[in-house]
Amino acid sequence: EEFLATVAEKSDGAALRGDYSTADAQYVVKQNWAAYTEEEHALWRRLYKRQEALVPGRACDEFITALAALKASDGIPDFEKTSEALEKATGWRIVAVPGLIPEQAFFNHLANRRFPVTVWLRTPAEFDYIVEPDVFHDYFGHVPLLFDPVFADHMQEYGKGGLKAMKLGGLDYLARLYWYTVEFGLIQSPQGLRVYGAGILSSGGELEYCLQNTPSRHIPLNVERCMRTLYKIDSYQETYFVIRDFKQLFEDTAPDFTPMYERLKQVDALPANTLLPGEKDLLAGS
Ligand code: PHE
Ligand code: FE
Repeated sequence: EEFLATVAEKSDGAALRGDYSTADAQYVVKQNWAAYTEEEHALWRRLYKRQEALVPGRACDEFITALAALKASDGIPDFEKTSEALEKATGWRIVAVPGLIPEQAFFNHLANRRFPVTVWLRTPAEFDYIVEPDVFHDYFGHVPLLFDPVFADHMQEYGKGGLKAMKLGGLDYLARLYWYTVEFGLIQSPQGLRVYGAGILSSGGELEYCLQNTPSRHIPLNVERCMRTLYKIDSYQETYFVIRDFKQLFEDTAPDFTPMYERLKQVDALPANTLLPGEKDLLAGS
């Protein structure tokens, strides 16, 4: 499952897929839950079932617990109901959007503890693979972890950091961090590596692939190294960055990134399959 996480326009310049005509200045629309068809709810249930079966032993516990509490297996959820539960838990809400939205609006939502969720669902032909994020990716992949207090705080800080990076010329670097953590991140657990990245959690194939000993790397997260690393948008990741816990993610991204951005501007980016001297694949030999 591959897509650009935060960009307003696809890189090929092709038109975005959603209906932006009723969006407000922050790109928010009405979900119009009653308009989903029975076919769409049925496709959601099929997607949900496949992922639900893959999640045990692969997703982190925080995700599994929150997902079960959401009770979202029966059909495309009503965002309003989710927002009420989420607001009680961590003060976040979800807002409906037509699809990808401009960076400024995206960061502004996060900075105010609002998570943008696309309203439309993929077609049956896109069951295994979709280019742009749809409601299944956005909701199933991202919403459960917003119930975790530390991760929820991190996402707000990321939003503020995005607004700041726009002024500092740091967006490319920050986008790589988002990609390799929020979208494709792995986390340690006493039982071994687990997934917290939404792009993996909503993907049928990568949820299995990313935890196997393959040519892809599994290395401890180092923020500057991560922000220097190019990523793949049309294949499984060639590197997965692993955190110890969400506290590490929060603390390692808390320092002022200004000097880091300046250093990163002075060096070439690293290919997605890089293994630097001294780095070891955590799954090598397993
Ligand atoms: N600390 C970063 C900065 O000063 C902001 C940030 C926070 C970025 C959390 C990502 C995640 O720019
Ligand atoms: Fe996403």
